[in-house]
Amino acid sequence: MSSSSAPFRVGLLGHGTVGSAFHDLLEQRPDAIAAATGRRPEISGVLTRSRGDFDEILAGSDAIVELIGGIDPALDHVTRALKAGKHVVTANKQLLSQHGEQLEAAAAEGGAKLGFEAAVAGVVPAIRVIRETLAAAHVERVHGIVNGTTNFILTAMARTGASYDDALREAQELGFAEADPTEDVTGKDAAAKMAILARLAFGAQVSLADVPYQGIEDVTADDIAYARELGLSLKLIGSAERIDGGISVMVYPAFLYAGHPLSPINGSYNAVTIESPAITEITLSGPGAGGSQTASAVLGDVISAMNGPVVEPPPVAKLPIVGDVESAFYLYVEVADRPGVLAQVAEILGLQGISIKSVVQRGIGDDARLVMDMHPVLESRFRAAVDMIERLDFVRSRPRAIHVIEEVFE
Ligand SMILES: NC(=O)c1ccc[n+]([C@@H]2O[C@H](COP(=O)([O-])OP(=O)(O)OC[C@H]3O[C@@H](n4cnc5c(N)ncnc54)[C@H](OP(=O)(O)O)[C@@H]3O)[C@@H](O)[C@H]2O)c1
Repeated sequence: MSSSSAPFRVGLLGHGTVGSAFHDLLEQRPDAIAAATGRRPEISGVLTRSRGDFDEILAGSDAIVELIGGIDPALDHVTRALKAGKHVVTANKQLLSQHGEQLEAAAAEGGAKLGFEAAVAGVVPAIRVIRETLAAAHVERVHGIVNGTTNFILTAMARTGASYDDALREAQELGFAEADPTEDVTGKDAAAKMAILARLAFGAQVSLADVPYQGIEDVTADDIAYARELGLSLKLIGSAERIDGGISVMVYPAFLYAGHPLSPINGSYNAVTIESPAITEITLSGPGAGGSQTASAVLGDVISAMNGPVVEPPPVAKLPIVGDVESAFYLYVEVADRPGVLAQVAEILGLQGISIKSVVQRGIGDDARLVMDMHPVLESRFRAAVDMIERLDFVRSRPRAIHVIEEVFE
C-alpha cells in the first residue's frame, strides 16, 4: 500500500447487533484490509436514532454500510447514497426484496456498487457464487434453507420429539428466535431471501409479492416421526426454479430424502443448493445469522467495493411467474378405523391422477392415521383431492399435506 493512499471512508448507518460487530471487525483488521485493497478503511461517521447526521456522513464517505434494517429510512438513505456515486453494502432483505429494481437503477445512475451478500444467508456466499462464479451458467433451480430459526426448531423437533411450541420456546430461550417470531415461522423472512436469490439466479424481476410462502406453525411431532419411518427429514425450503419459460419461487415445509444435500443441514445453519446443467449441483452452507458472522459477510462486500470496478448488472427480464407446479406430497389423514377407509381415500387420489408411493396405517383407539407418500402431481390437483378427502364422513380433522422433494444427488 502506498503511504499516500487516502483512507477509504465508510459511513455506518446502524450500530446494533450487526453494526457494532462490523465496527469492531473493521477496527481489528485494518492492516489486513489495507494489504488486500491498497487502502486503509476508517469509519467516517455513525448514524443511530440518537446520534449522527446522514447528510454529513454521506458527504464524508466513500461508501455507506446500511445496517438499520426495514424500509424507512433505509430506502431513502441507500437510494441517495447510490445516486451520489457512493458504494453501498447492506444486510437488509426487506429493502432488496421489495425495492431491488429501484436500487439497481440508482446504482446504475450513480455508477456505484450495491453489495448485499449478508441479506440472504448470513455468512454463506450464495450471492457471490451466483453473481460471479456462475455468471454465465444457466441456473435451473435454487433450493435453500435460508432461515436459521425455523431450521433450529425443526431440528429440535426431530431430535427430541418435542412439540412445535416447546421447540419454539427453546429457540427463544437460546436466542435463536425473536420474542415475536412471526416473520421467521410464517416463512416470510425466507420468502424475501428467495426473491433476492431468484432475481439474481434467473436475471428476472422477482419481488416478495411474487413469492407465496407457507411456514412451519402447523407441523406436528407426528409428521416428523412418521416421515422418519419413510426415510425423510423435514426442512423449511425456499424453492426457485425455471418452469416452461417462466419461473416459480415459493417457500414451504418439505420432506427431503437422505441423499438431498440440504437433508443434513441442522440447527441454525443455512444452506443453498444451486443446480445448473453445466455444474450439476453446488451446495454452500454455514451459519445463517449472528452479529459477527453477518458482519464478516458485510466486510467482504466492502472489500469488494474497495477493489473492483463497477460492473453493470445484466438486464433483468420479465418472466411469467408460474403458480401451479408439480410436486410430490406427503399426506396425513386421521380417520375412523373401519374397513374400506383406505380404499375410498385411494379412490379419490386416483380420480385426480395421483399415485401413491407408500402408505403407513396405524390404529389409535377407534381411529386410525393414514400417512401417505405421493408421486409428483400438479399442486392444484393434489389440493382438490385433499378438499374431497376432508369431506368424507370418516375423516376426523383437516388432512395435513406437506411437499416432498424427491431429488437426490449421490
Ligand atoms: N442480527 C442478525 O443476526 C442479522 C443477520 C442477517 C441480517 N441482519 C440484518 O442486518 C440489519 C441490522 O440488524 P441488527 O440485528 O443489527 O439490528 P439492531 O440490532 O436492531 O440495530 C439496528 C440499528 O439501527 C439503528 N436505527 C434504527 N432505526 C433507525 C433510524 N430511524 N435512524 C437511524 N438509525 C436507526 C438503531 O439505532 P439505536 O441504536 O438508536 O436503536 C440500531 O443501532 C437488518 O437489516 C437485519 O435484517 C441481521
